Amino acid sequence: MCNNLMHNVDTVCTSSPSEAAAFIRDGRLAAFPTETVYGLGADVFDPNAVQRIFDAKERPPDNPLITHVADTDQVHTLARAIPSVARTLMDRFFPGPLTLILPRHSNVPEVVSAGLDTVGVRMPDHDLCQQFLSACDTPVSAPSANRSGRPSPTTWEAVYDDLNGRIDCILQGGRTNRGLESTVVDCTTERPTVLRAGAITLEALRATLPETTVEAESEVQARSPGTRHRHYAPDAQVRLVDDPEDATPDEQHAYIGLEPPAEPEAFGRVHICSDVDAYAHALFHFLRTSDASGCTAIYCQTVEPRGIGRALMDRMERAAGLR
Ligand code: TXA
Ligand code: MG
Repeated sequence: MCNNLMHNVDTVCTSSPSEAAAFIRDGRLAAFPTETVYGLGADVFDPNAVQRIFDAKERPPDNPLITHVADTDQVHTLARAIPSVARTLMDRFFPGPLTLILPRHSNVPEVVSAGLDTVGVRMPDHDLCQQFLSACDTPVSAPSANRSGRPSPTTWEAVYDDLNGRIDCILQGGRTNRGLESTVVDCTTERPTVLRAGAITLEALRATLPETTVEAESEVQARSPGTRHRHYAPDAQVRLVDDPEDATPDEQHAYIGLEPPAEPEAFGRVHICSDVDAYAHALFHFLRTSDASGCTAIYCQTVEPRGIGRALMDRMERAAGLR
């Protein structure tokens, strides 16, 4: 995979946030943990470094990046204005798994936002990540650190599997504690609008700002163009089942859900989650580890699309190619 001349970089793995940050300050790429999934970072103000993120991931150029900040002062270097709803959400949810879409400051290179007039900003709630971001001394643009189209990485080993030889550094933290990405909220519209369901639930957003809306899929594709691309797919086929009995037992089949399938011992792998949060935490990891053990199909039990279940269903439907 990494013998390709385009991608023959030495990838340094380190548990030192300052060592990883030195790569960012040097205009190079470093992957790092957050509370949601691992990100693949570059200095937001270095367009050549940001372009390398797209090359390493084979990411479609129309899919904008989220920029990660260490403190609220950095938000002012990225956004030309901060709407009052954004201030309210920052007060309530920063640091945390929430990305705000704000009017883009002219300092921010166009490649970061795929040509859009807006910029996505978030402040992760993760100690090692915060040490890394502080040491970078610049906001860090970072999509999830997977090859484009694959499930997002929740361990540094998953980053290594996808990007070894393509990126300069991996900051080795433990497994991420949320397992699904941040919620993306557009704050440039009249009412705050959820463009991507994620770790902060719609119910929690509405408890703070009751006028929060959810954009229809067709509108999201217009306003966040990258969302139309294939996402989160393992090599195995993903099949959604409402009823666990509908999963077909086979030693090459995997199953994940809240309730067990009919003959659990006849499946190659089975993971029963204690609740929907545990399911959200486990999904991407289970998709990847099932691929690694050679499964050909992965059955996922559906959940109610409320609370974190909304984001979980979104990811499962995309992984199954239903969206
Ligand atoms: O939890 C997360 O959000 C992780 C960690 C690493 O922070 N990042 C992540 O990035 O999931 P990525 O690139 O895989 O997804 C970014 C999402 C995409 O759906 C993209 O379209 C949207 O955010 N986005 C970013 N900037 C945007 C903008 N200016 N306008 C609309 N959507 C934007
Ligand atoms: Mg991603």
